[in-house]
Amino acid sequence: MTGMGARAVLAAALCAAAGWSSGALAADTGAVRYMAAVCANCHGTNGQSVGGNEALAGYDKAKFVQTMGEFKSGKRPATLMHQISKGFTDQQIAQLAEFFSGQAAK
Ligand code: HEC
Repeated sequence: MTGMGARAVLAAALCAAAGWSSGALAADTGAVRYMAAVCANCHGTNGQSVGGNEALAGYDKAKFVQTMGEFKSGKRPATLMHQISKGFTDQQIAQLAEFFSGQAAK
């Protein structure tokens, strides 16, 4: 009896979390959140690090683009970020910069 209801609520919550509502803008937000989720394991959900690696939440947009570019080119020393940064186009990095700079730093 409550099974269906709970499932519907969960589905709605998941869709909301992923930004899957109607409209092109919402679809874009969903894509950015999907990319940002790749970073969450090491930098925290929405870049709100709980220790370990640098927080990305509230990260300066220009500094983010520059840092990711330097990881990509290998100019900036890194253990993991060389490989990870190469997985994203400059456009995607710009979208991530926008997303993370807009997250509240904890
Ligand atoms: C497997 C763990 C891991 C994942 C996943 C990861 N990072 Fe990192 N990140 C690191 C580590 C470790 C460093 C420190 C540099 C290094 O050794 O690579 C770092 C450093 C950074 C820095 C520089 C921070 C600073 O100011 O010194 C940025 C920016 C960054 N990561 C962005 C990202 C983004 C964006 C993603 C997702 C697309 C991501 N990282 C995913 C581990 C990770």
